[in-house]
Amino acid sequence: MKLFPQLISEAPEEYGGRVRVLPPEVAHRIAAGEVIERPASAVKELVENALDAGASRVEIEIESGGVALIRVRDDGSGMSPEDAKKSVGRHATSKISSAEDLARVVSLGFRGEALHAISSVSALSLTTREAGADPATCVRVLAGGLPERSLAARPVGTTVEVRDLFMNLPVRRGFLGTERAETNAVATVVEALALSRPEAGFFLRADGRGLLALPASADLRERVAQVHGLSLARSLVPLDEVGGPVWGFVSPLSVSFPTRRYLHVAVNGRVVDTDSFAPAVAKAYADLLPKGRHPAAFLRLELGPGEVDVNVHPAKSAVRLRGGRSAYPLVVGAIRGALAPEREEGGAGPAAEGESELRPIGQFAGRCILAEVGEELIILDQHGVHERILYEKLLKNVRGTPANLPVPAVVRPPVDLAPEVWNFEVELEALGFRLEPFGGGAVRLLAAPESVADPEGGFLGALEALAGGEDLAKALACRGSTKFGESLTQEQMVSLLREWSATEFKEICPHGRPIAKRMSLPDLLREFGRI
Ligand SMILES: Nc1ncnc2c1ncn2[C@@H]1O[C@H](COP(=O)(O)OP(=O)(O)OP(=O)(O)O)[C@@H](O)[C@H]1O
Ligand SMILES: [Mg+2]
Repeated sequence: MKLFPQLISEAPEEYGGRVRVLPPEVAHRIAAGEVIERPASAVKELVENALDAGASRVEIEIESGGVALIRVRDDGSGMSPEDAKKSVGRHATSKISSAEDLARVVSLGFRGEALHAISSVSALSLTTREAGADPATCVRVLAGGLPERSLAARPVGTTVEVRDLFMNLPVRRGFLGTERAETNAVATVVEALALSRPEAGFFLRADGRGLLALPASADLRERVAQVHGLSLARSLVPLDEVGGPVWGFVSPLSVSFPTRRYLHVAVNGRVVDTDSFAPAVAKAYADLLPKGRHPAAFLRLELGPGEVDVNVHPAKSAVRLRGGRSAYPLVVGAIRGALAPEREEGGAGPAAEGESELRPIGQFAGRCILAEVGEELIILDQHGVHERILYEKLLKNVRGTPANLPVPAVVRPPVDLAPEVWNFEVELEALGFRLEPFGGGAVRLLAAPESVADPEGGFLGALEALAGGEDLAKALACRGSTKFGESLTQEQMVSLLREWSATEFKEICPHGRPIAKRMSLPDLLREFGRI
């Protein structure tokens, strides 16, 4: 279940060709009461109301996973007695008044639906006081009944108390998770909202125990430190698109995680479902992280209020950039820009002025190239080096120039792949392979792309990738590269290192494995006890 809206794109091919159709359970769920699916959805609405009211401190208390009690207390603007009574009615909102306003929503709420929805499935009491008014007002509603107003006492701000959630919907209650699961869902929502508003303080208590204490922080990095710990926050790299629409922080290449837990996105201050951004973030790190690892990304998209359409769906389950604009290239570009210095750093290439050229010292164990640059010793995985070069060439142009083989090679594809050769003949030819049948399922390879060092391996790799629908460039680069254990001449090493120095992502092979290991002379001397 999604608690935050998805960012939907009008250019679905940008998301890797997966057209997103809103799930039917969302598309059909347009009745008012349906916006509250579980305690965490009520907490989200109440905290958003507090933030819309300009609160600088929001205190949340829950009992029994939020089913027995949710209490949200803020120090925001509060409401007048009249507004307080009206606020629990359907379509009652102070945030927009006309259809035109809908096009420029700057607040988190805009439908005038949330309090009504919550009060129709619980015992709700709202105590509020605005500046200059005394005493405060209390409004009570029992399961959608008529609101009752009374006098109360409290400082400026609002407290909403929701007891016995889904009291009149026993089936809904039956669908809830364990208390622990519901409590966790509440904590996740509060964390996400807190990340979108570092300047406000958020405090969550569950069954009398403090779960989150996030005092107002100076900026996003400090808030990340409060939520996810100092070491992650410190490692983050800023996206320094000054004045650009995307800013925030991402993890460096050296820091990655087995889950996408550290992904957080807000569009114009509104938290959006991270699934909408996962493809763009993944693309920005493509081939830079080992398989199964994910980066951390805390992204902010700041666009004019007229550029984001929040009224895509009555359940506020989607937002969209106007004019068919896609956030995808903005996000990929901003992240790639932030990673660029890290990619270049220690790139060991001849690129930097005054830096001496990377010079091969020799080969080690037929698998590694030892090289030096300035006062640094570099040990390179020769297969990875070649793979990276080939991969980047193939990415630019997967079509290859055929080079005739001095002696045609007979290749025997595995039985299951043999019939595929002739299905993909056109594609194989376009890559630069020239072939003819040899009989018994074998093929005679007459020419191979000139960039491929191992024609037979490259051919089989390409065939496998074509038949399996894999990344052709990656497969071809891997199978067509210099093998471990292959001896290289000095000239071959020089040209390999020169080409490698010019690649964009030097440090990691297309499968995400590191390519180079470095040791500086001072470090070595320190190890030898010389300094
Ligand atoms: N914590 C609060 N402090 C001050 N005013 C509040 C607070 N909560 C609600 N209100 C007032 O009550 C109105 C109704 O709130 P409600 O959440 O039902 O609707 P909304 O926020 O306008 O829209 P949405 O349904 O999209 O959340 C708000 O427009 C606001 O004026
Ligand atoms: Mg609201």
